[in-house]
Amino acid sequence: MALLNSSVVPSIGIGVFDREHLELVETINELQAAVDAGGERSAIGPLLSKLAKDTKAHFLSEEAMMAASKYPGLALHRMKHQRLLEQLNALLMRYARDDSTMNMHSLNFLRDWLNSHIQNDDLNFGLWQNEHGKR
Ligand SMILES: [Fe+2]
Ligand SMILES: [Fe+2]
Repeated sequence: MALLNSSVVPSIGIGVFDREHLELVETINELQAAVDAGGERSAIGPLLSKLAKDTKAHFLSEEAMMAASKYPGLALHRMKHQRLLEQLNALLMRYARDDSTMNMHSLNFLRDWLNSHIQNDDLNFGLWQNEHGKR
């Protein structure tokens, strides 16, 4: 499966979030490499925890900037973040219970979600923020 190439992750025009997006993509790529290398739990567990922690922190930072700027799309954007976090938590719990391994399907889902969210929802916010928001 093709990895998400960092060079094709679009900039949303807000440096701090661009860097966080790249880091999330890196972690997903590292997870992919760990799965490809045989799926050792000792390798996958910490990466999955890191991804969950970083994703949560990233979403909160975005929502804080949106709130500070009174971004009209905040409620919908937050709902999308929330839904992804629920799915990520479910994945973590399944993984912790040991009744499911981290598989291609989960990684594809995360990668596709992130890619599409950055390209659409986050980019819309970046454009709006650069036009109307406080920096
Ligand atoms: Fe984002
Ligand atoms: Fe977002």
